[in-house]
Amino acid sequence: MTEAKIGIIGGSGLYKMDALKDIKEVHIETPFGSPSDALILGTLDEVKVAFLARHGRNHTLLPTELPFRANIYAMKKLGVEYIISASAVGSLKEEVKPLDMVVPDQFIDRTRNRISTFFGEGIVAHITFGEPICKNLAQVVADAIASLNLPDVNLHRGGIYVCMEGPAFSTKAESNLYRSWDATIIGMTNLQEAKLAREAEIAYATMALVTDYDCWHPDHDNVTVEMVVANLHSNAVNAQKVIQEAVRQLSTNPPKSEAHSALKYAILTRLDSVP
Ligand code: ADE
Repeated sequence: MTEAKIGIIGGSGLYKMDALKDIKEVHIETPFGSPSDALILGTLDEVKVAFLARHGRNHTLLPTELPFRANIYAMKKLGVEYIISASAVGSLKEEVKPLDMVVPDQFIDRTRNRISTFFGEGIVAHITFGEPICKNLAQVVADAIASLNLPDVNLHRGGIYVCMEGPAFSTKAESNLYRSWDATIIGMTNLQEAKLAREAEIAYATMALVTDYDCWHPDHDNVTVEMVVANLHSNAVNAQKVIQEAVRQLSTNPPKSEAHSALKYAILTRLDSVP
């Protein structure tokens, strides 16, 4: 049964959504273990959504420890077709300032030790991932940000998100290397979510909330948790407004997404041969 077509994954600072009404916690078990926390089913302006705190509601999971497969599997089980992710990131460009919002359209994977597929163990599939973010969903998110005219928040449409392993932040040499690659922002979580969502035929887009200039900027202090948390407080309030607006749009005008048919030509294994 479809419980919610829209899923929200909240990152650092966004552990719950105050505007959610009629909430119900659901504990979902998956073949990949338990998700980061119970999923919260509720309504936003009458639209059903499923919310998940990526790191757990008390922020107890490192990026490396996140049960990415269980999280996406649980969303799929609830009937989710669109996932909006809200994530804190560092900026790798001068013009992308703390408190700005970026809706990235590309990733560079700098993670290690993470399982990023549902496939294997007898079933071989290769999804197309040249455009890792759903363009139409990203547009809904970006338009929602633009429509709110948030004070002190500049919107950046598109950009490259470097996904690093963590938990330590980058060295200056790494930060400058990513800048030389023309990357826009850096975070620790979104790449696996985007890949697994695509394999699950769920459209995925990210609202990246800029909290710092990482460690490359000569006129700004190196990123610290204190800095991230301070900027997240105002960011989290804005993020909820954006999500509410995007959900309104999605419910009245659900966009087409190539993600919804991502497996059509992706599976190589002859499924009639699988017992
Ligand atoms: N999340 C917030 N700021 C970050 C940074 N500078 N690097 C990686 N992840 C982050």
